Amino acid sequence: MRSGFPLFPEQASTLAGRVDAIYFFLVIISGFFSLLIFAAVIYFAIKYHHRAGEEHAPGLVNDNLTLEIVWTVVPLALTMIMFVWGAKVYFSMSRPPNDSLEIFVVGRQWMWKFQHPDGQREINELHVPLGQPVKLVIASEDVIHSFYVPAFRVKQDAVPGRYTTVWFEATKTGRFHMFCAEYCGTQHSGMIGRIVVLEPVQYAAWLSGDTATPGAAMAATRPPADGSLADRGHRLFQQLGCASCHLPDRQGIGPLLHGVFGNPVRLRDGRTAVADESYIRESILQPQAKITAGFQALMPSFQGRVNEEELMQLLAYIKSLGKR
Ligand code: CUA
Repeated sequence: MRSGFPLFPEQASTLAGRVDAIYFFLVIISGFFSLLIFAAVIYFAIKYHHRAGEEHAPGLVNDNLTLEIVWTVVPLALTMIMFVWGAKVYFSMSRPPNDSLEIFVVGRQWMWKFQHPDGQREINELHVPLGQPVKLVIASEDVIHSFYVPAFRVKQDAVPGRYTTVWFEATKTGRFHMFCAEYCGTQHSGMIGRIVVLEPVQYAAWLSGDTATPGAAMAATRPPADGSLADRGHRLFQQLGCASCHLPDRQGIGPLLHGVFGNPVRLRDGRTAVADESYIRESILQPQAKITAGFQALMPSFQGRVNEEELMQLLAYIKSLGKR
């Protein structure tokens, strides 16, 4: 089936088989009923076609309770199977496991940029370990893109102004195509790359900058001289002057950021918000949108002063404070 012109992409993630199973189920059910309807149309057209000399009177139609129950219950049962099964797969797809490796992705015209937690950066190529859930936090610097890896059966839009996530766990080593699946300008078709799945040992070697590792062609960026993502975020935090208001001892004019990430924050207007990725992002770009209870609306906007990658570095730094 995969010779020359593959009809179906390889299954290379834990989700791939589950997605394919429900897809084939839908195709078979749809195909069966399409054929049944075609056959009935043809059969009745022949059986009841008007013959010369016949009288044209409609026959008496009686209720047929059994038939009505059958054509109600059978489609209901089938659609409920699709609903429950589809929802189960959907929930698994949308909830990354807690022990996921988190990688930041930025889409822009026309490339995919990746940042690993330890600081390694890649363009149009992503190295991941085999058998480990990987969560991607995706942003866009310009227009809507769509991150698509057919072999993993994952596709997620990269939307300007917000974070989206997708996760996968690779089940095969090798190289897999990665596409942009949303028309995003003249070079859209060139916005492609590959995912390189390595054995965990090889992945560790790749992280440490071992050029002998297969697929480690872009060794120039590794190991990162400027530290991990959170380190870079920390430096940015100092450079942008954030550190002069968000003091670590609760004495600053801005709220303390230690332990904030992932927790609910009480706001000045009485509402409560959860300090997730999107909340932190909004608080940096539109600080007036949600003011923490007990604080003034003094913070300036950093819109235009930090790009998506820098936002992700700041986010990684704020996250790292949460763990202390
Ligand atoms: Cu990016 Cu199409």
